[in-house]
Amino acid sequence: MISVAIDGPSGAGKSTISRAAAKLFGFIYVDTGAIYRTIGLAAKLRGIDASDNEAVISMLTGLDIELRYNDSGEQCMLLNGADVSRDIRLPDVSMLASKVSAIPEVREYLVDMQRKMAQMHNVIMDGRDIGTVILPDADLKIFLTAGAEDRARRRYEELLQKGVETTFDMVLDELVKRDEQDTRRAAAPLKAADDAIVLDTSGNTLEQSVSEVCRLISERTGLTPEQAP
Ligand code: DC
Repeated sequence: MISVAIDGPSGAGKSTISRAAAKLFGFIYVDTGAIYRTIGLAAKLRGIDASDNEAVISMLTGLDIELRYNDSGEQCMLLNGADVSRDIRLPDVSMLASKVSAIPEVREYLVDMQRKMAQMHNVIMDGRDIGTVILPDADLKIFLTAGAEDRARRRYEELLQKGVETTFDMVLDELVKRDEQDTRRAAAPLKAADDAIVLDTSGNTLEQSVSEVCRLISERTGLTPEQAP
């Protein structure tokens, strides 16, 4: 099986770029942030403080988290049988996901689920620790990044499109705080693997970034994308 690990801070374009590249190579796209978001949402629904490690850890035993693909090939997250794919995108769930993801037991709980996906399929998997912890032997590791203002602008535009009321400053502030939290945590912090290729997407169009990632995948695997992006 072929695996491509794409890590980086929030809003660097990881999911959009990974999804597009996976489609072109016929790989499965695994969005691991969605799994942490599902645990963050579960804490919210149960009224559990996401920073209360013990409460979050004891919540894990009663959780049934499933990652599925619908008929259109989109990843869906099920929490105790209910499809929560939309709810996990609410802005407050981002920070909850970041908080629960700092708990080592939460990360441990999700390791097998992520590795199994890569054992069964050719994958492009995105997250924060894919190249460093989850798939240290990935065929290709990319660390996607961009300036904070660029990333916040993309996130802001996405939220506006979804009809979420917010301001650019709020989005920037949240993004900077979340990256700081993800980078400073002791357990599997956000960082580029030593053998990752660092790609700065600042100022790139989406097409340019997809095309750059596809070029790296082709170079490393010998495969060619089905269509030019
Ligand atoms: O990629 P995202 O913004 O949906 O991720 C939400 C949070 O989940 C992110 O702030 C940190 C955490 N996360 C993680 O710790 N490890 C991953 N592999 C993916 C996400």
